[in-house]
Amino acid sequence: MVFGLSVSGLLEPEPAPVKVTLASKPDEPATGPASPHQLPAGADAEAVAAGDALFKANCAQCHAINEVVVGPALAGLSRRRPISWITAWVKNSSKMVAHGDEYAVKIFNQYQKQQMPSFQLSDQEIKAIVAYIESRSYQVSASGATGVAAL
Ligand code: HEC
Repeated sequence: MVFGLSVSGLLEPEPAPVKVTLASKPDEPATGPASPHQLPAGADAEAVAAGDALFKANCAQCHAINEVVVGPALAGLSRRRPISWITAWVKNSSKMVAHGDEYAVKIFNQYQKQQMPSFQLSDQEIKAIVAYIESRSYQVSASGATGVAAL
């Protein structure tokens, strides 16, 4: 790397354009009960990073963002389900199935009645995981690419 040269102008690389823009979001979520602004891209980098780690530690053996593994692909999750549902589900999915939550029963049946484990995660941690999932979901729909791991 030769940065000593004082040739001005020529050497300055354009900063890489940020690929994910709000404009590229598919549909602005019709907003569930909770927050109107689910996640502007990059809004909460810290939560996304925490969610990344939590996802890898707890969820990745059964879930990917864009493909079915053992459980469903989670892309676009917060546009399907409100955060309150997601939180309750992750904490105890079988309770929701047992209580006859319509969506829970449907997805449980769809996945051969395979029970997802219950997790002792805090609401905050689950939100972080959702933030991570959403950050990846937008990225993919923006570029249409597979497995973009831009950092
Ligand atoms: C042992 C495998 C396994 C692990 C680990 C797991 N899941 Fe699941 N998950 C499933 C299965 C299977 C389903 C489908 C529903 C069912 O069969 O109960 C599911 C369904 C879901 C759903 C509903 C999906 C949808 O499209 O509506 C969400 C949300 C979810 N999981 C989130 C998570 C999160 C977050 C974690 C980590 C904290 C996690 N799961 C860990 C197996 C797993």
